[in-house]
Parts: sequence; C-alpha cells; structure tokens
Amino acid sequence: AAIKNYQFDIQVKNVSRLCHAKPIVTVNGRFPGPTIYVREGDSVLVNVTNHAQYNMSIHWHGLKQYRNGWADGPAYVTQCPIQTGNSYTYAFNVTGQRGTLWWHAHILWLRATVYGAIVIMPKQGTPFPFPLPQPYREAEIVLGEWWNVDVEEVVKQGNNMGLPPNSSDAHTINGKPGPLFPCSEKHTYVLEVEQGKTYLLRIINAALNDVLFFGIAGHSLTVVEVDAVYTKPFTTQAILIAPGQTTNVLVQANQVPNRYFMAARPFMDVPIPIDNKTAAAILQYRGVPNSVLPIRPQLPSSNDTTFALGYENKLKSLNTPKFPANVPLKVDRHLFYTIGFGKESCPSCLNGTRFVASLNNISFEMPQVALLQAHYFNIKGVFKTDFPDKPPTSFNYTGAPLTANLGTSSATRLSKIAFNSTVELVLQDTNLLTVESHPFHLHGYNFFVVGTGIGNFDPATDPAKYNLVDPVERNTVAVPTGGWTAIRFRADNPGVWFLHCHLELHTGWGLKTAFVVEDGPGASQSVLPPPKDLPQC
Ligand code: C2O
Repeated sequence: AAIKNYQFDIQVKNVSRLCHAKPIVTVNGRFPGPTIYVREGDSVLVNVTNHAQYNMSIHWHGLKQYRNGWADGPAYVTQCPIQTGNSYTYAFNVTGQRGTLWWHAHILWLRATVYGAIVIMPKQGTPFPFPLPQPYREAEIVLGEWWNVDVEEVVKQGNNMGLPPNSSDAHTINGKPGPLFPCSEKHTYVLEVEQGKTYLLRIINAALNDVLFFGIAGHSLTVVEVDAVYTKPFTTQAILIAPGQTTNVLVQANQVPNRYFMAARPFMDVPIPIDNKTAAAILQYRGVPNSVLPIRPQLPSSNDTTFALGYENKLKSLNTPKFPANVPLKVDRHLFYTIGFGKESCPSCLNGTRFVASLNNISFEMPQVALLQAHYFNIKGVFKTDFPDKPPTSFNYTGAPLTANLGTSSATRLSKIAFNSTVELVLQDTNLLTVESHPFHLHGYNFFVVGTGIGNFDPATDPAKYNLVDPVERNTVAVPTGGWTAIRFRADNPGVWFLHCHLELHTGWGLKTAFVVEDGPGASQSVLPPPKDLPQC
C-alpha cells in the first residue's frame, strides 16, 4: 500500500460555456476537478487550501471513513468549514473498497462546480471479476449541470422565495455540454476507441438536481458495478443514475467505425417532459474524420417510468464467495421515515414564507458547530437525539390530501444508534409536490436495498417480498415518486453520519438528518481523535 498526496487549491476561475463567461469556484483551476487515483489499501492525504472568498469543505462520497468521520467533510456535520486563507488535510485510508466514487464540495451549492472522480483500483494483481475481456482502457464520464447565471442567485431563489430555482441551462459530460448547444463545438468531450476493444466507463452523476439517463448510440452497456460495489452483470441500452450515484459499464467497440453520440438527459415523472438540456459527447472510432456527423442515440423518453423501474430491478449484488452480500437478516432497530414538504414562515423571505422539506415532519436545521465535534467533546445544546423512529401519525401517505403532513417543525434532531446493531430504514415518499424520485445518501456506510415499491409500504406484507439474498449494495438510493424503499445496514462505524436527499434543492429545504452511531466497547471501536488541523467554527 502506498501513501498518495494531493494538493487541492480552491480558487476562482473564469470559465465560459454556452456563450456565457462567469467566475466559478474550482479545484486547481480545473472544471471538473482532478481525479483521485488510488489502489485499495492506500492511504490518502489531500491538503485543501482555500484561496476563494467562500467557506469550503470537501466530501469523499462513498468512502466509509471507518471511525474517521473527521475526514468525511459535510460542513457543520463532521467539520466546520475551511475558511478563506486556511488549509485542512483530509487524511484517510481506502480499505475494503474498490471501484468508482467521487468527491464534491459539501457546503451551500458549491458542488455545482467543485467535484471530481475517485478511482480505486483493485489490489495489484487482482483482476476485475468481469464477464468480458479485461478492459483495454477506461474513462471517467462525470455528468453535471451548467447554469449561465451565478449559482448563488439560483440558491437564493430556491431557498428564500419558496420557488423551485431556475433549472440549469445544460447538462454536461466532463464539464462540457456538447455540440447541441450554442458556442459549444469546442466544449465537447470526445472518447477515442479502437475497433474490437473493450472499454470500462466510470460514470458519475454529479448533477445538482436531476436523475439522468445515459446511453451511447448503437452500443449496449454492460453494468458491472454501482457505487463501488460489483453487481451481477447485465446489458442495457441506457442506464439510470441519480445524483450521488456511480455506475461502471463495459462497452465493446464492436460497431462500424463511425462517430456515435453519448448522451445524458433527465428522468422526470411529468406528463409532458421538457427536454432542452441533453448533454452530448462523442465516441469516436480511431481513423474516422471529425467531419462525420455523429449518430444519435435512442434514450428512454424523459418520463419512462417503466424503463426506470425495470432498470432498478435488474441491479443485484454480485454475491460470490469473494464478494459476498452480507445482508443483515435480523433487524434490531426498525425506522420508518416519511418524506414531506411544507411551508414555514420566514420574515426575511420575499413572500414571508419559505419552502421546507422534512423527514417525519422534521425539517433539519443546520447547527453552528459541527455535530461530530459536539458528539465527541460532549458539547451540550447543539443537537438532540430524539428523532422519532416513525412519523407522528400514520396516514394514507401516497393518497392523502395535501394538508396531511404540512405540520413541520425545524430542529436539529438526530437518531442515536447502538454500535453494531442492525438497522432497517424504510423511506416513504408522500404525495406532495414531487415529480422526482429522491436519491437518499447515507454517509459512512453502504447499505442493502432490500425492497422497494409504489404506493404505501405495508409492514404486514412487503417484508415477505424482500430480497435478502443478493440485493444491490450502495450508498445512494432513489426512493421512487409516490413509493417507498427499504434499506438495511449494520451500524459498525461509530460517529455522526449524515443522511440526506442528494437533490441539492431538497437538501437546502431541510430534507436531511443524521445518525449518531455510538462507540463500541472495544478499544478499536470508537471514533478516532480529531486531527490537529481540524477547522474550527
Ligand atoms: Cu454526495 Cu452528503 O453527499
């Protein structure tokens, strides 16, 4: 195992896309930022120095950070932000994980431009357990969004005016919208391939607010991994990927040499999909001239729920002796959280009210001190651990009138979880204002997606239908619109771990909470001491 050092300089840079130039926050002046490239077992040191006029923190999305929440990154959850002029070194080990993950800013909406890939190669000499030939080459495909206006303005609109913010102006592939947009010919990602070879694409959805379809004209994709966990391989014309998720696919360059579009566009449960933001990149066979017009892909239509559900059902853990799915069969703690929306009075907001989003009718209020520090140093008054295990009342979640769960209150309430206990969490969507599935991300853990369905979760019948053999294991799961998802995990990683919707708009509205996982009895089962340079508030 090696020690890998990275220097991340947070700096503002002028970038132009879609004929608009604007200053954006970057790492090392790059958009997207640099890839962290490591091997399973390596230690990583990333020194982040903040030269920008914004507070900063970086999250290593999907890395478990065993006992080491200090390196996890969400602002006011595991650390105070890195202030202008200051530095912090994120120090962590990459153990027991290999595959594609990513990093992003975890404060305000700065992840709009501050993000990049994390590639964890298997240990030296360990081949990928893939059905096709070992990939000849690999490429990172990072999907994102671009706004022509300043992202801060978009945030203000979303958080204060009680209105959904302007949606972005384009989706992007590796920071580039592609040739379907004005002034974008030069902002097109091109992947050159050789006829007859197999490629591994590491696809990441770094978009702020959109679940995306991704496909390549004329080529099928073989899914082999999601969220850095191997899956049973299956072949598909398109993948569905929610913000926060990663998907590895194999692509065989087995078609007539030509230029083929790769495209990403949103999945929305709306009757008339609006689609003017499709990002395009080009898969180009070696020797084919740039003048050839690329072939267009057939992606599922933007409201193709049938495709979406079918796709999710195909995802299963590889579950071999080498990569077993250790699904908890017995549950110590049952949690049931409803996803709701409401309005709250807000004297400083434009209409005197603002949108809030809630779990069990609690909209999460960010504290002024980091929760992990408050937990570790036993600082009183920062948070309570009385988050309810179920909603205050049960009602017809997906059929109820709009008023049924508007009684939200804002508070910093967390749930305390016993060390090494097994937890089942059912996330239940409610029929309020939602046209999107909610991608929920749990920090510090992977979990198994044991069940999902449309309508109300039925505790009497649904658990009998769970997949407890080879459910997909991941760190972010999309709870379907008007439906539910059940996840299970073993709480073996002590610390304070954020749980939130990875649609930035919803996170901003309060669709989040955190688990306080208690220390275990053993000497090596407690939260490690904080590093000396941990930022203070
Ligand atoms: Cu990818 Cu809490 O985030």
